[in-house]
Amino acid sequence: MPYEFIHRPRRLRENVILRDMLAENKIATTDLIFPVFVSGSITKPEAIQSMPGIFRWPLDTLDQPIKKWIDLGLKSFAIFPCISDCKKSEKGDEILNPDSIIYLAAEKIKSASNEVLLISDLALDPYTTHGHDGIIDNHGKVLNDQTVEVLAKASILAAESGYDLVAPSDMMDGRVIAIRNSLDNAQCMHTGIMAYSAKFCSAYYGPFRDAIGSTRSKPIDKSSYQLNPSNTREAVRELLLDMQEGADILMVKPAEPYLDIIALARQECNLPIAAYQVSGEYSRIWAAASQGWLDLDACALESLLSIKRAGANIIISYFAERIAKSL
Ligand code: PBG
Repeated sequence: MPYEFIHRPRRLRENVILRDMLAENKIATTDLIFPVFVSGSITKPEAIQSMPGIFRWPLDTLDQPIKKWIDLGLKSFAIFPCISDCKKSEKGDEILNPDSIIYLAAEKIKSASNEVLLISDLALDPYTTHGHDGIIDNHGKVLNDQTVEVLAKASILAAESGYDLVAPSDMMDGRVIAIRNSLDNAQCMHTGIMAYSAKFCSAYYGPFRDAIGSTRSKPIDKSSYQLNPSNTREAVRELLLDMQEGADILMVKPAEPYLDIIALARQECNLPIAAYQVSGEYSRIWAAASQGWLDLDACALESLLSIKRAGANIIISYFAERIAKSL
């Protein structure tokens, strides 16, 4: 030996029992939220091309897959509506129809099982013909306060149909406090707000937009409301504002390309932190795996662990079902 040393960290990696015991982060099904796409205009599950293994589910038989996922240990679901073109409009009025699919889905799931937590994404993009998350003026500018007013009203419909949490994903200013006031005035003070607080203007949302058909005609630029991927301080400002406005859970989105922001959120905000591993993060791993270049399950787990390690308590992930099967 050229020199003596006493520190041998490898001792703690000697066998699997030690390694498991000393794992600093673990993924449990209770940490995961599974996104579910629901459609009122199909009778059979429809595969989403750009997201292998993910389907649009018909409303009428939604209780069946939900039961299967509950049996796997998944208990929290974020519901996303696929709205048929004939119900879309310039202002997205369908979001205020109490019989719209997103509300019917909650009623259906909750009447089949009470052991689930339901989260309603709250934004106008599934409902608007142009695919923006808000109401636009004649020049295509997204109008903040008019949009917030609609979301505040829609949050009551979501709460009354059975959602436990509403998740505004629109990035309008002041929407968290407006939704909180609206829910409280409607006696829905137990409905929580999981705010998409640091939501970046990301190219990783592509497959999701295919899934809900929000940008069938042309690509869309959401940079006047979603955060610039280069900005850290601005992301922290958004997180702090949502905390002040009364959010119950703060979210960072996407997840893996923004681990630094997750870590900062954990450090700066004393609230649960959720991270959304978005569609493009899911599909890029799948794409490489389908070429035989990466191991799908190992990479899925490693990606979730990195998000946990950065400081997220809750992870919204399309891998939830697959991971639950492997746990
Ligand atoms: C809509 C919304 C989006 C996602 C969740 N809610 C897309 C967007 O902002 O364009 C993306 C989720 C994903 O990519 O998995 N407001």
